[in-house]
Amino acid sequence: MGGAVGVLGLVWAQSTDGVIGGGGTLPWRVPEDTAHFKALTTGTTVLMGRATWESLPPRFRPLPDRRNVVLTRDRAYRAPGAEVVHDLDAALDAALAAGDVWVAGGGQVYRAALARAQRLVVTDVDVRVPGDTTAPQVGPGWVLRAQEPAAGWATSSAGPRFRIRTLERAAG
Ligand SMILES: NC(=O)c1ccc[n+]([C@@H]2O[C@H](COP(=O)([O-])OP(=O)(O)OC[C@H]3O[C@@H](n4cnc5c(N)ncnc54)[C@H](OP(=O)(O)O)[C@@H]3O)[C@@H](O)[C@H]2O)c1
Repeated sequence: MGGAVGVLGLVWAQSTDGVIGGGGTLPWRVPEDTAHFKALTTGTTVLMGRATWESLPPRFRPLPDRRNVVLTRDRAYRAPGAEVVHDLDAALDAALAAGDVWVAGGGQVYRAALARAQRLVVTDVDVRVPGDTTAPQVGPGWVLRAQEPAAGWATSSAGPRFRIRTLERAAG
């Protein structure tokens, strides 16, 4: 996109079956992933759907030290501490002109933004859980750039095994 100085990334955590949410919340607790999300997104713009914004406990929103942008079709919607936008492409253009942007969910907004994303940072959580929201399908055209740990899994202090994969668009 002309004028972009930043990179657009999507960041999410998914279960073995690709579940990312259930009942408006995360179906697991992995504090290391929460810390990773904070480190990755601090100083950038985080863009999220209205449902994800509302899933954040009020005391945790807006996410600190980040520009928070909330996408909704509701012209009257207010999200104190965040910028409310109604047009995804226009919002991405504006935010990317200022720097890096991370789409932080949820399922609808990941799907809508995937076509423009240059990188994906995916935490695999080794659990099987019921849910109503799934990660977007990552088709061909993405290459694995990094994986942490390089082989196998880390174990969360809260129990589940997890690993973090970074994918980038393949050249060409
Ligand atoms: N595991 C993870 O990494 C992760 C990350 C984030 C969220 N989540 C989970 O995901 C779930 C929420 O995801 P979700 O798919 O239900 O909702 P969502 O993507 O967070 O938000 C959906 C809302 O965004 C607005 N929207 C979506 N596309 C739009 C567009 N093109 N233009 C304008 N507005 C648009 C609409 O708001 P209005 O209805 O107001 O118009 C829509 O109802 C929760 O369970 C949450 O915990 C998981």
